[in-house]
Amino acid sequence: MADTTQNNSFSSNLGAILAAVGSAVGLGNIWRFPYICGKYGGGAFLLVYLAFIFILGMTMMMAEFIIGRHTQMTPSKAFPLMAPKHPGWRYVGHFGILTTIITLSLYWVISGWTTNYFVDACSGAMSQLGTDAASVIAHFNAFVGSVWSPILFLSVFGVVSMIVIMGGVQKGIEGVSKVLMPVLLVLLLVLCGYSLTLPEAAKGVSYLLVPDFSKLNAEAILAALGQALFSLSVGIGMMIVYGGYMPKNDNIIKTTFWITASDCLIAVLAGIAIFPAVFSSGMEPAEGAGLVFKVLPVVFNAMGGIGQYVAIAFFLLLVVAALTSAISLLEYICVWLSEILHCSRKLSATLCTIATIGIAIVLSLSNGVWSDVTLFGNSLFSIADLLSGTYMFPLCALGIAIFFGWVMPIDDIHDELTNHGIITVPHFKAFMFLLRYIAPLALIVVLITGIF
Ligand code: PHE
Repeated sequence: MADTTQNNSFSSNLGAILAAVGSAVGLGNIWRFPYICGKYGGGAFLLVYLAFIFILGMTMMMAEFIIGRHTQMTPSKAFPLMAPKHPGWRYVGHFGILTTIITLSLYWVISGWTTNYFVDACSGAMSQLGTDAASVIAHFNAFVGSVWSPILFLSVFGVVSMIVIMGGVQKGIEGVSKVLMPVLLVLLLVLCGYSLTLPEAAKGVSYLLVPDFSKLNAEAILAALGQALFSLSVGIGMMIVYGGYMPKNDNIIKTTFWITASDCLIAVLAGIAIFPAVFSSGMEPAEGAGLVFKVLPVVFNAMGGIGQYVAIAFFLLLVVAALTSAISLLEYICVWLSEILHCSRKLSATLCTIATIGIAIVLSLSNGVWSDVTLFGNSLFSIADLLSGTYMFPLCALGIAIFFGWVMPIDDIHDELTNHGIITVPHFKAFMFLLRYIAPLALIVVLITGIF
């Protein structure tokens, strides 16, 4: 791998798990999950999402770790190398990079919002909005529609991520994830505890946990699939890069299980924290991409004096969760570019950051001054979110699943999964069956029915 730092692997198995959890747990769990779940009707969506996470997402993650640890390359290079007669496989890798570029640009925008909310919580500006939902919503709309503030915050966030990436894998990525992921969990639990005491808590909890299948359609199922992959950071080949940093003696199955379980837990907890608050503040679950930013300030302000501190802690941790995910996205593009240009890690990190911040600025402006530029009636921002989160992740995952199941030598897969015979894997055949037949078939069916 074209990595020019000395510290190009995680120091321990726990470090590898936490770095991958850092990538998986992010805005996808706390910002995107509640809003998509609210858009598609709650409980039934949650069930389908969980099924996809544990059946498809987990197996795909194992596949990506196996490819990565075996080849130590990005898919664009690893795939043509493993299939020399079919160099066209590299396009699956390139498609993953394209998806990552769009995802990261979008990620910069939301991370910028998060950073702004953190600053507002610290300065007391958030407390001044009070508990009136209408004024909190108006504030959010005015902020995202403005020109300079969102651009300033997303750029600062992007540059900080770039600096972490330049610090290398062990000091940079692993160091940050190790400390802050556990703190995030504790804070989310506190928030859930508070939300559950709110007057309409029961309504919110049953909205999330009691499935209403009449709200489920093909579009919702595709959205659940896209969200499951997005949330686990799988399907685009990014975990292939992290697989390359994994210690050789790491148990891929156990690691994958813990990452999946933590990711899922955080999403469900985010739902438990948000939906009671949505109903208690008289808002609609289908409020859209701003849901969390509209609901949470109302909750914090209603807590009284302590609310400001809870808000500061919460938005700080959301910034951190966003940071550990953003750096994994940036790392992926950065390694890919340095493989192609044979350039230093620093140069490629700089180029990738500038390019994606450029796209992010366009997406941010499409929420305000450029909102009349639309595609099929959607703003560029919504198109980017829909494209990457719903369509591109499953499409790219299909390519990776087919490559893994049908092209990669099965002995290599077995060696990597069993650590060269040290671990026994009793369900190896079932695992291969899932990846060869079930995963591609499910991806094709869900994609086709969801699109048409
Ligand atoms: N999984 C991250 C989240 O939930 C987003 C992400 C997707 C990060 C793909 C890396 C790769 O926010």
